[in-house]
Amino acid sequence: MSVRVVTLVENTAGFPLVLAEWGQSVYLEADGRKILFDTGLGNALLHNAKVLGVEMGKLDYLILSHGHVDHTGGLKDALEAQEKKPLPIVAHPDIWGKKYIRLGGDRFIGIPFARDYLESLGGEFRLTKEPFWVSENVLVSGEIPLESGFEKVDDNMLIKENGRFSKDPLLDDFSIFVKTPKGLVVILGCGHRGIVNILRHGLNLTGLDRVRAVIGGTHLFMADKERLEKTIEALKGMNLGEIGVSHCTGMQASLELARVFKERFFFNNAGTSREYD
Ligand SMILES: [Fe+2]
Ligand SMILES: [Fe+2]
Repeated sequence: MSVRVVTLVENTAGFPLVLAEWGQSVYLEADGRKILFDTGLGNALLHNAKVLGVEMGKLDYLILSHGHVDHTGGLKDALEAQEKKPLPIVAHPDIWGKKYIRLGGDRFIGIPFARDYLESLGGEFRLTKEPFWVSENVLVSGEIPLESGFEKVDDNMLIKENGRFSKDPLLDDFSIFVKTPKGLVVILGCGHRGIVNILRHGLNLTGLDRVRAVIGGTHLFMADKERLEKTIEALKGMNLGEIGVSHCTGMQASLELARVFKERFFFNNAGTSREYD
């Protein structure tokens, strides 16, 4: 059982000729399946896949971490590139909420395409709130329980319904868990529900006792000092093999994680490739 993980889109570029954009997309191969996890904002996906030698036209599954545009903006390109259709898209039903961010005004940050349009391009939505096994060792998280007590979803993430705003609990925040003989490999999307909540959920679901690797967006860029400290303490207790942060981690949290985890830390930008046997 080996897993190949290639980060196609990230806020920063870490490989020659690769483009950077605010967002994330990660390609993985495991159990003979080709899986795309998110699509970035939409400008870099196909270009970077070509540069990095990833065959975008032969996907078996597309999985969405949540409905924000920086993870779903490349859906059209990803679907149009497929040689074989339909392509199953695994996600939570709340991805279709009218999602906004309150940041210098209220900005729409939801999926920039209509569902029927994406279906006409060959997307076949398999919406679920529950964990979903893609193959023998690859699991989509389902809803993440808020159990750590110190990780909260941002107050400025909103849903608009019938003209009124309410806080978005981001129940659609999914991650991917891969079982390997040496522990759990976790790919985070934006980590809106909290990295510790997500990792604990993954360990519970799979019955594994250690996190071999965690890669992706940790959503620590708005975390205060206390949350960051508690997060690091919790991570230390997970016998973490390596941590490759991306996207919404932020400079302060990245520096602190690098200081604590030393050679086990890396910055997971566009072009980063890892393999786990
Ligand atoms: Fe997000
Ligand atoms: Fe994001």
